[in-house]
Amino acid sequence: MTSPVRLALLGCGTVGQEVVRLLHEQSADLAARIGAPLEIAGIAVRRLGRDRGDLPVDEELFTTDALGLIKRDDVDVVIEVVGGIEPARSWLVEALHAGKSVVTANKALLAEDGVALHEAAAEGGGDLYYEASVAGAIPLLRPLRESLHGDRINRVTGIVNGTTNFILSAMDATGAGFAEALDEATALGYAEADPTADIEGFDAAAKAAILASLAFHTRVGAADVHREGITEVTAADVASAQAMGCTIKLLCIAARGVDPTGRETVSVRVHPAMIPRSHPLASVGDAFNAVFVEADAAGQLMFYGQGAGGAPTASAVLGDVVAVSRNRLAGVRAASESSYADLAVRPMGEALTRYHVSLDVADRPGVLASVAGVFARHDVSIATVRQGSAGGSPGRDGAELVIVTHVAPDAALAATVDELRGLEIVRSVTSVLRVEGDA
Ligand code: NDP
Ligand code: HSE
Repeated sequence: MTSPVRLALLGCGTVGQEVVRLLHEQSADLAARIGAPLEIAGIAVRRLGRDRGDLPVDEELFTTDALGLIKRDDVDVVIEVVGGIEPARSWLVEALHAGKSVVTANKALLAEDGVALHEAAAEGGGDLYYEASVAGAIPLLRPLRESLHGDRINRVTGIVNGTTNFILSAMDATGAGFAEALDEATALGYAEADPTADIEGFDAAAKAAILASLAFHTRVGAADVHREGITEVTAADVASAQAMGCTIKLLCIAARGVDPTGRETVSVRVHPAMIPRSHPLASVGDAFNAVFVEADAAGQLMFYGQGAGGAPTASAVLGDVVAVSRNRLAGVRAASESSYADLAVRPMGEALTRYHVSLDVADRPGVLASVAGVFARHDVSIATVRQGSAGGSPGRDGAELVIVTHVAPDAALAATVDELRGLEIVRSVTSVLRVEGDA
């Protein structure tokens, strides 16, 4: 057997500890699959004295000098499971420039400055793999960047954040409000102490950027993604969705399109949306992730599984370690990106969406015509209208109007809702949600 592939592990927290365990437990199989044994050269952490349980690893491997570890001549592959932008970016650029291969789970960094990493990898000649950065254990990026490279992907729709999926699933199942469901997610350990990145959609937006870049051969960064979180989703929204036979999910949607000049574009967005219960993503509950890919020849594909957690994420990391180690032994590298298509990223206002709007209106002649007139003025076509007695306003001279539109530019739909809010006959706009999937 050839000499070992030497690994520098940056970070030994939730994911890093499971990487160490898997490397130990699977060492013989991994060596057989790669054709050389894997050896940990060092583990960089912030606090040397931290209790890491009974990790099967020599204490002397731990260091707080990550950069020193990366620069060592006997390190072939750098595994980064620290997270954040700096110092991770500087470490990985340094490693890649030095010709080392990098495996990272850091979606925030890839979405923020993936270009710097891809360029450093191309210059240094090493690999940059990041399967664990999106949807944890689910094999998704490799299929997008290899298996589907003979096809043309048109749309990727995903639930890529487990915390928010847990919260929305709980709201749907119990009728709880957002705050109550977040408390439950925190108590059960799904939501972090500071849940901002999850509930405000930053985590999903970073993953959306990575997915769109791979699916559409175009560099898409976090700043290109329209992002809305789930903090404004109310129990009334969930009830509205249920009345329509739908559920609410935080979706990441990356889709090909054509702008008014005929130029091919891509739009990338993250926001809560109603989807019919018959949609494959509707049944994805708890903290699970799933990604639905639509391609010309392959048709519809669904990827489903655990999107987070130490062991599931370490599984994806180890898969990458095997791949980059094999490449090193073979003296080859895989291109970390394909950005030849360079499609323009379309602003959210031009994205084609559908809206579900619930209104509490005065119940008198001409109201429906006035409301319909607002939609018509903004060139938005109404698909369905349902009228009932005003929700939550028993005994008042009011009515509830529930309107679902056909597809229209998002800006036109938003302007329609703005104008409705200003109408004297509209007492309140009780729910506004985008609708995805065929109802
Ligand atoms: P943790 O916070 O559990 O672990 C982070 C590790 O990085 C700790 O070991 C910490 O050291 C170390 N660290 C932090 N700062 C430094 C520093 N300046 N120098 C050296 N070491 C440092 O994070 P996770 O394991 O949860 O996540 C790691 C990465 O994986 C992130 O990019 C995350 O987004 C990604 N990821 C995580 C998933 C999950 O389920 N947890 C799922 C998918 C991706 P110390 O132990 O001494 O504090
Ligand atoms: N916070 C993320 C989630 C972890 O809830 O899905 C995985 O990236």
